[in-house]
Amino acid sequence: MRMYDIIMKKRNGGELTGEEIGFFVDGYTKGEIPDYQVSALMMAVYFRKMTERETLALTMAMAHSGDMLDLSGIDGIKVDKHSTGGVGDKTSLVLTPMAAACGIPVAKMSGRGLGHTGGTIDKLESFPGFSTDLTTEQFIRNVNRIGIAIMGQTADLAPADKKLYALRDVTATVDNLSLIASSIMSKKLAAGADAIVLDVKTGSGAFMKEEADARALAEEMVRLGNDAGRTTVAVISDMDQPLGYAVGNALEVKEAIETLKGNGPEDLVELCMALGSQMLIAGGKAADTEEATGKLQAVIRDGSALRKLAEFVEAQGGDPGAVYDPGLLPKAPVIHEVKSPAEGYISHIACDEVGICSLLLGGGRETKDSTIDLSVGIVLCKKVGAYVKRGDTLAVIHADHESKLAEVEKRYLNACAITSAEPARAPFIREIIGRQ
Ligand code: URA
Repeated sequence: MRMYDIIMKKRNGGELTGEEIGFFVDGYTKGEIPDYQVSALMMAVYFRKMTERETLALTMAMAHSGDMLDLSGIDGIKVDKHSTGGVGDKTSLVLTPMAAACGIPVAKMSGRGLGHTGGTIDKLESFPGFSTDLTTEQFIRNVNRIGIAIMGQTADLAPADKKLYALRDVTATVDNLSLIASSIMSKKLAAGADAIVLDVKTGSGAFMKEEADARALAEEMVRLGNDAGRTTVAVISDMDQPLGYAVGNALEVKEAIETLKGNGPEDLVELCMALGSQMLIAGGKAADTEEATGKLQAVIRDGSALRKLAEFVEAQGGDPGAVYDPGLLPKAPVIHEVKSPAEGYISHIACDEVGICSLLLGGGRETKDSTIDLSVGIVLCKKVGAYVKRGDTLAVIHADHESKLAEVEKRYLNACAITSAEPARAPFIREIIGRQ
């Protein structure tokens, strides 16, 4: 088999066989096929697209390009959750202890990630001492003992995707539905769970800005997961403004703790209930949404979800005291209130711009080597639909230095539209695909 022929076949609109896809994935992972040939193939895929059969073959080949995590040592149905990412997305911090408190074994691999704030691992590192540096044995032992463990993604999880994603990133071939879906699902399949619940966002702060694109991605990922033998569901939700109020690592942890105490923001609670219900149904802990919702509400009410977070933090070396006293989390030295320049309704908050505010404060990574300040960020006080008077506080900036304030304040004010007419609101949860 020759890479040249594979490129030409795709360039001319042909359908690649499973063998041809396996050949290029394997050869590229081993360094036997050069970047320039794979770049040409990716561009051909970009223009010619992939059929469902090709996309599944690519997903499976990438999933099997490294270790396939064996979670058979964990009792019960393992349910994983994945988010396509957004601004203020602290869902995993709330949802995983809730699901674990309901008896779902949570064995999760997470990343640090580039972007506006850190990934779930960075956020968890706000707990002094917390580490995700676990061996596979410790990981499995912790899940069996307390029902939850999170470890960093190992280098050998879907290494083909790692190489391919980095190449697509510099060759303008990221935004192809088959390539995105296979990239995400190859990692999820390799991470070993029996069922996968996907949190797909849409709107200005999401990877998929248009709802139709988010739906197409969700449908493709659900199909791939089910074809690979894992029960898969996707919840599509709004990311046209930040989720909850807090954006920034320790600030989001604090909001997650409040949510586990029953004082969460409406949108975050709604999302955790929707995703959590699907996790409980997929994990055989509830027959339907009504039963699942009841169980999820009960673990908030009786404090067991909050206690589960504390147990989990302690099991991974962190200070569980910070769960009960969030004052022990990292705190920024400079606090500044952003005041409204006008009276009216908040009709829009450019979500990606709020993310950039957090990045400018030092709360996210611009490159994978950037260091991150866990204490900084921005806490919104008014969200879309709120009526504000001139001089009301719109948001509070948490910064490491006063020199950062002027630029971030200006950016935040530009991101907020205030109008005299009340804005129309779309439902927060747009759709559930593959619902059981
Ligand atoms: N996230 C991924 O993991 N892969 C993509 O291709 C796009 C987003």
